[in-house]
Amino acid sequence: MLTPGLPILASSASQISHEGFGFSGDVYTVRMSGTPWWENAVGYEIYIRSFSDGNGDGVGDLIGIEERLHYLADLGIDAIWISPFYTSPMADFGYDVADYRDIDPAFGTLADFDKLIEVAHRLGLKVIVDIVPNHCSDQHPWFLEALSDPTSAKRDWFHWRDPAPDGGPPNNWASHFGGPSWTLDEASGQYYLHLFLPEQPDLNWDNPEVRAEFLDILRFWCERGVDGFRIDVAHGLAKNPALPDLPVVHELTGDEGPRERFLSLDHVHDMNQEGVFDIYAEWRELADSYDAMLLGEVYIRAGDAARVAAYAGPGRLHRAFFFDPMHVKWSAESLWACFAPGAEASSEGQIGWAVSSHDDPRAPTRFGGGQVGKERSLAFTVLLTMLPGLPFLYQGSELGMEDVPVDPADFQDPVAIRNDNPTDGRDPCRTPIPWSDAPGFGFTAEGVKPWLPFGNHHLSETVKGQLGDPFSSLERHRRLLAVRRELGAMADQTLEWLTAPPEDVLAFRRGSVVVAINVGDKPAKLTISGGPWAVKYATRTERTSEWFDTEIEIHPDEALILVPNS
Ligand code: NOJ
Repeated sequence: MLTPGLPILASSASQISHEGFGFSGDVYTVRMSGTPWWENAVGYEIYIRSFSDGNGDGVGDLIGIEERLHYLADLGIDAIWISPFYTSPMADFGYDVADYRDIDPAFGTLADFDKLIEVAHRLGLKVIVDIVPNHCSDQHPWFLEALSDPTSAKRDWFHWRDPAPDGGPPNNWASHFGGPSWTLDEASGQYYLHLFLPEQPDLNWDNPEVRAEFLDILRFWCERGVDGFRIDVAHGLAKNPALPDLPVVHELTGDEGPRERFLSLDHVHDMNQEGVFDIYAEWRELADSYDAMLLGEVYIRAGDAARVAAYAGPGRLHRAFFFDPMHVKWSAESLWACFAPGAEASSEGQIGWAVSSHDDPRAPTRFGGGQVGKERSLAFTVLLTMLPGLPFLYQGSELGMEDVPVDPADFQDPVAIRNDNPTDGRDPCRTPIPWSDAPGFGFTAEGVKPWLPFGNHHLSETVKGQLGDPFSSLERHRRLLAVRRELGAMADQTLEWLTAPPEDVLAFRRGSVVVAINVGDKPAKLTISGGPWAVKYATRTERTSEWFDTEIEIHPDEALILVPNS
């Protein structure tokens, strides 16, 4: 339990990784000080299908990304994470990989990828690719061989079991995406395991050939110059080898969506097993030899920041995404319940903080939508970016982009299409980025139908409409990232909470920097000693030149970054 006012860990102050960041012509120069590149970085998730369409077919691609890299470097981003672009039948839009060493034609070619890396590096941007090791596609030659020849060596690359005595699935495990996590192969009479779609058979990580193969895949991309890996379902690779039934947490009524059904079981055997760390020990050795970062998607049960952080550390991953922030309510109690333990667990920066992602509703939507939702999302981003750890924006976060309602006729996500209750569908947070108000919103060519609907975007919601307007969401995000970079040297890892619920203002100090957010619906005061203080950053642009001695009023939904006024 955390006590306000108590420093939660004094580790050695982190060095700023960027000693200098200058723009000369179109070449950014970044000088590293010897600390890992991710130490003080800000990441940006690119969901490739919806970022930018370079070849005019309505689907985003590698060329499209390359064309927008300047925009991201100018925004103040240090690293991009690109969602899977490998050869795939697209049952789960790239998270079902049929060839881990090639690019799907929908997204481009290996030559396009090499060019993207080259341009990104020239601009000082690191490139993180998304590796999908928990499962592959059912169209991957590995699985096709396992299926067609049960005596082949590839059979043991997957999990096969005989039916239960009643002929049903071997245990009660549920797929994340609805239904059981077993599908019967009628030819052999055995079931195979898939924690996601039937088209995504789980790989058997107890098989040493699988381990060797993935080390080779990681090496392949490191040799192509990538700077890190976002590891899909990083908590899922190891299973309890006995595959026992999962304890039932609560019975179902039948109306639940897949997420609720999944949460009705206690996932003590299908994920988050100690065995996963042996795998990452090998990965870490390889990654370190290339200076590449390992960032795990650790989507385990809510409320266990310490366990998430335990995925990162010596001999393990470098960073682990913690997803509780994706589910907080806009109240001091809810934010505190998430961020107090989260910050404590991330005392050495272990945690990756995502503002939004391609799997959950966007922050402005989660926080009420409209102008209020946008203000809250920016304030929330201030909090996330100033905590110890590695923050990530999701494409469109900088615009204050909301989820776009998608008509059932336009659903693409199998989670929406294949379930009677489509509430968990992820299409609304995956719609194309509005770059301008031109036909095709600057995302694709005029007249081309995008893979998901654009929605309606006024010019003021587009990149073009926001660029250069100091009051726009885009420019306020840019300024935030610039301030964060400037304060890098001051913001050491020691974090001390200055307030706690029931106060509506949550505030913490890191080094000499204070970060405060008012989540109440009335203006509220923050009192701090050690003044005078200057407002270094305010989500309300007009406040940035204020200073005060001991007390400052914070508006509802506003966040401030304060520094000693010298
Ligand atoms: C997590 C990814 O973020 C999600 O989009 C995907 O569907 C699942 N893992 C399965 O790969």
